Amino acid sequence: MNKMINSLALILLLAGTNAYAAAPIEVLNDYAATARKENSAFKEFSAQRGEALYHAERIHSKGTKASCSGCHTGNPKNPGQTRAHKQIEPMAPSTNPQRLTDPAKVEKWFSRNCQDVLERTCTAQEKGDFIAYLLSIK
Ligand code: HEC
Repeated sequence: MNKMINSLALILLLAGTNAYAAAPIEVLNDYAATARKENSAFKEFSAQRGEALYHAERIHSKGTKASCSGCHTGNPKNPGQTRAHKQIEPMAPSTNPQRLTDPAKVEKWFSRNCQDVLERTCTAQEKGDFIAYLLSIK
């Protein structure tokens, strides 16, 4: 009984310190709900498709090469760099536990970066695939 109370206290303590953060899996579940609304044929997210999106290089209408890995590097465990050479912390939650824990931040940067690289917004499917890929990295 005492043990149970202790683990309950621990859970409450952890929940308390994390009051404003979500787990990456919750963020992913939210995108699954949106993906189902956007496309009734939605089945699941694919880390493999997310990986392809992460690395895909396209030619921007400005004539420059654009990719997610351009700033976030070829390895999500590595720190990246903005075009102004400002450091970006690693994208993989296994390396950087703060990643994908703030739904508003995640959404803000998807909007900005999808526009920047793809010149359009990303679908919920693409966002979820991308997150599934980051979560698959150990
Ligand atoms: C021009 C540089 C640049 C490119 C290209 C870029 N990003 Fe980012 N990204 C950033 C910066 C800067 C941040 C915010 C700084 C930080 O969180 O460390 C960020 C943060 C993010 C985050 C927030 C993650 C979190 O939980 O903190 C996501 C998601 C993201 N980027 C997705 C993408 C995707 C998808 C692409 C490709 C379509 C992409 N990024 C391309 C610069 C870039």
